[in-house]
This record gives sequence, structure tokens and C-alpha cells, in this order.
Amino acid sequence: MKRRVGILISGRGSNMMALIEAARAPHYPAHIALVISNRSDAPGLALARAAHVAALVIDHRDFATREAFDHAVEAALEREGVELVCHAGFMRIQSDAFATRWLGRQLNIHPSLLPSFPGLNPHKQALEAGVCISGCTVHFVTPAVDCGPIVAQAAVPVVPGDTPGSLAARILKVEHRLYPFALKLAASGQVRMEEKGVSLMASFNQSDCLFSPNPSTA
Ligand code: GRF
Repeated sequence: MKRRVGILISGRGSNMMALIEAARAPHYPAHIALVISNRSDAPGLALARAAHVAALVIDHRDFATREAFDHAVEAALEREGVELVCHAGFMRIQSDAFATRWLGRQLNIHPSLLPSFPGLNPHKQALEAGVCISGCTVHFVTPAVDCGPIVAQAAVPVVPGDTPGSLAARILKVEHRLYPFALKLAASGQVRMEEKGVSLMASFNQSDCLFSPNPSTA
């Protein structure tokens, strides 16, 4: 049984496409039922439609309050029987009420190893902090932005001369692998949000590690 998934976007939609492509596999446990963008000029809308996924615009500027916008989004999700929601570059903060009603049923991807560098400009934050390793995180959405229980992370090296753009590009490639994997865990029930964190049935790398700089060439 495939779980019905809605994806919320505001822009480019490359993570959305990674999820749509992963969901084409016959045994993938999720079906992408709907894409919603809060911006009519989001390039991801055309990509979704070209991939034969229903895509609609719910412009937040048409609503007087955050709650009213969230209700419209919720109504659209419910019309499509959506059970799980993936935020993929969705640049709106949800009302506490919405985030609470959907607790444990919404995922987000953020391009840093949370809890480091939440919020805006995570790549710039990582470069300013001088870290040698950054990465990306998929977490359950809670009312506090970028703070929900972590489902999965991937580490990516930061290299000398990196700019926010070059680091973002390196991390984005990995996001496209991490998000479909994390959605698979959530849709199949291998990960569940619990009161304190997550319960996770998965295998772990216990011997692998990422050195940065790389000692084998030093
Ligand atoms: C990604 O880096 C994602 O982690 C962040 O916003 C960006 C969205 O990119 N939340 P895209 O629209 O998926 O290409």
C-alpha cells in the first residue's frame, strides 16, 4: 500500500523532482498525489505537471492570516487524501495549529547538519563557522522551525575556496538522495515520530566515516 504524499514548494523544485522520480519505482512506499506552491512563479510547478503530478498554486498573499492560508492548504491536501506532507524548499512558516495537527506526518529537508545552522543562509553560516563538514538533514516538522526530530542526515565536506553557492550545489546533490530515502523510511513505517525523538528501524554505518580533510592524500 502506497501512502499518499503531498509536496509543498516555493521555488525550483529539485528535491520535489527527486521524490517524484523515486516514487515511480513500483515498490516505493509512497505515491506523490499533489504538489502545492505558495508562489505562482515557482519553476517546480511546471516540472511537476510535466511529470504528470497534479500541481496547484495557493498564494499566501490571497489570505488575510497565516491560519487562513494553512486551512486552504489543508483542504487541498484532504481533498487528495494526503497522509504525509514533504516540505521541499517551502518558504512559509506554518501556524502552530497546523504544525500540531500534522505532527509526525510532515517532513522537511534542510541543507545543514541540524541543529547547526538552522534558518536562513545555512551555507553561509557553515562557511562563517569554518566547519570542515556540513551536510543535510531530514526531520519531522514541528512548530519550531528546523527543530523537529531528526530522521536522517548525510555529511558533505566543505572545501577550501567554497562559496555559499558551491557548497549548496555539493549538498543539493546529496539532498536528492537523502530525501527519497527518508520519505521511504517514513512512508513504510520504519521511522515514527515519538514524544522524545523518533523510533527508527534502519541499518547504520558503524565503521564508515568521512574525514575532511582527507588523511589518505595528506
Ligand atoms: C534545498 O536546499 C532545501 O534543503 C532547502 O531549500 C532548497 C530547495 O531547493 N530547504 P529545491 O527547490 O528543492 O531545488
